[in-house]
Amino acid sequence: MTITLSERLQRVPPYPFVVLAQKVRALREQGVDVIRMDIGAPDMPPPGNVIEALVEAARQPHMHTYAGYRGTPELKSAFADYYRRRFGVTLDAETEVLPLIGSKEGLFHITQALVDPDDVVLVPDPGYPTYSAAARVAGARVVPVPLGAENGFLPDLEALPEETLRKAKLLWLNYPNNPTGAVASLPFFEKVIDLARRWDILVCHDAPYTDVTYDGYVAPSILQVEGAKDVAVEFNSLSKSHNMAGWRVGVALGNREVIAALLRMKSNVDTGIFLPIQHAAAVALREVGQDWIAERNAIYAQRRDIILATLADLGMRAQRPKGSLYIWARVPDGYTGDSFADVVLERTGVSFAPGSMYGSEGTHYVRISLGVPTERVEEAMARVRATFTT
Ligand SMILES: Cc1ncc(COP(=O)(O)O)c(C=O)c1O
Repeated sequence: MTITLSERLQRVPPYPFVVLAQKVRALREQGVDVIRMDIGAPDMPPPGNVIEALVEAARQPHMHTYAGYRGTPELKSAFADYYRRRFGVTLDAETEVLPLIGSKEGLFHITQALVDPDDVVLVPDPGYPTYSAAARVAGARVVPVPLGAENGFLPDLEALPEETLRKAKLLWLNYPNNPTGAVASLPFFEKVIDLARRWDILVCHDAPYTDVTYDGYVAPSILQVEGAKDVAVEFNSLSKSHNMAGWRVGVALGNREVIAALLRMKSNVDTGIFLPIQHAAAVALREVGQDWIAERNAIYAQRRDIILATLADLGMRAQRPKGSLYIWARVPDGYTGDSFADVVLERTGVSFAPGSMYGSEGTHYVRISLGVPTERVEEAMARVRATFTT
């Protein structure tokens, strides 16, 4: 039997990390000690009390049933309280908060819930690949919005043509940003909300790195803008903030009609997060303080500085990120991000993510992750320095 992919699946390439993982596996089979600095996942564990809460909840017989579709009241109110404490944002836990099985499914499903064929979806370039993949599956027209170094990797809103704005249904933003490490200010978000109102565009702000920040920087939520809930939703996640990537706990917050549409889509596709995980996630939101987060972030900042020092020795340009888990480095002349990542992997066993994975604006960049144990970061940088400096 011949299996033919649907037209909708043919519109999306295989997920870039699946392809890179195959290359890494082949090298490891040859005995190479590969250091994966391409993956954006925390390497450290979640707080001990959160793990204890999970284990204890899992011991209870009634915690193993289907979890329902809307998230437990405990988890929803923990998210709402967290947004009140952390950002001063008031949300109705019942109608303006929806737990997700990791934020990635929410990014995908919201697009399927709201976008029709030929609608325009504005995606940052470079940007997290799911925004455009979801739009392509929906048959929408993806319009990349360039994020240039000259503009601090923020979109130039004034440069968007009126024709595009008129047709646009969704605008994706993500700050602190993957892959560039850029951050956005509240006045910038105010301009975005103003634009969205003027052109009737829903803003989807993907914000999983709001608590992965450095040097005293505190990232805002777009929901802090007055009236943002009229035209915006924000996605957040415990994957990076609490080192819980494998747990799959995310959330959509904001406009209640959008939340209802997302729930309608999701409840036809999946069923809620395992109840003990929802309980432990609520414990994480309520009990893990900013001091734990600050200590963890200090470790990332130390790794960031080790990597930046090596890049400087190589003559590579990179901004010092105030947030996110990444360094976005311009590759040396004569290389593309792909060819540089290939050469580094072959000659040193260190794996960087080629910037092209995030869009054509990433062609001359690589993304280097901070989610690698510090001694392995040191080892990787020693290998790179020995190979590429004379
Ligand atoms: C910008 C961005 N959005 C969303 C996600 C997905 O996060 P989650 O683990 O909550 O699905 C990631 C993960 O790397 C990310 O970098």
